[in-house]
Amino acid sequence: MKVEKYKLKLLYKLQKIKYGKNLKLKGIPFIYNRKGASLEIGDNCVIKSSFLSNLVGLYSRTIIVTRCKGARIKIGDNVGISGATIYARRGITIGDNTCIGGNTKILDNDFHPIEYEKRNALLQGTAPEGDDSRAEWIGTKEIVIGKNCFIGCNALILKGTVLGDGCVVGAGAVVAGTFPPGSVIVGNPARVIRTLG
Ligand SMILES: CC(C)(COP(=O)(O)OP(=O)(O)OC[C@H]1O[C@@H](n2cnc3c(N)ncnc32)[C@H](O)[C@@H]1OP(=O)(O)O)[C@@H](O)C(=O)NCCC(=O)NCCS
Repeated sequence: MKVEKYKLKLLYKLQKIKYGKNLKLKGIPFIYNRKGASLEIGDNCVIKSSFLSNLVGLYSRTIIVTRCKGARIKIGDNVGISGATIYARRGITIGDNTCIGGNTKILDNDFHPIEYEKRNALLQGTAPEGDDSRAEWIGTKEIVIGKNCFIGCNALILKGTVLGDGCVVGAGAVVAGTFPPGSVIVGNPARVIRTLG
């Protein structure tokens, strides 16, 4: 297993993924950095991917992906990630000391166009050539998650979300919008129930 992890880290270097010291991998995550994108993981981060590496029970490995040229993922120092998906077409920033609960999804884009004509054209390969114009069909907005945030398990963090420092997101919340520092937010759609500090 140690040898495999060594190989994984080599693979990350080949993809120009930057990671800081003491990166701990529990289980094998899927981390992919598209050419022309940037993916940076700070010091002392823990990424859990095996079923019982977090006793909440992880449904899948952690997945961290930059999908387009120019996309950017920046994960700060001391961040814990458990079986989460972090998928950027534009940009996702996660501040220092933030804990991302089991099975959370952080998606800065809709994966498919909202309009069915465009969706079908992409799915059926009949869209005009040119990565740039087609990419713009897919709704995409940067996500910024502050420092010292705590995201409960099974949360969904959708495009354009901005969480100030110290926010707490309840288990299973569906989050979209901007929330000031210290907000405790729960539910679908997530709403502030109180403010810390
Ligand atoms: C968000 C959270 C921290 C709030 O804890 P708290 O401040 O002690 O809040 P309370 O338990 O007093 O609940 C306050 C209100 O919010 C509601 N609420 C709390 N968590 C909620 C959630 N996740 N979704 C929906 N409503 C929730 C409660 O029902 C209560 O409603 P009421 O005032 O109408 O009775 C906690 O409920 C939570 O979701 N923790 C995350 C656990 C987790 O996933 N850990 C990580 C595992 S990897």
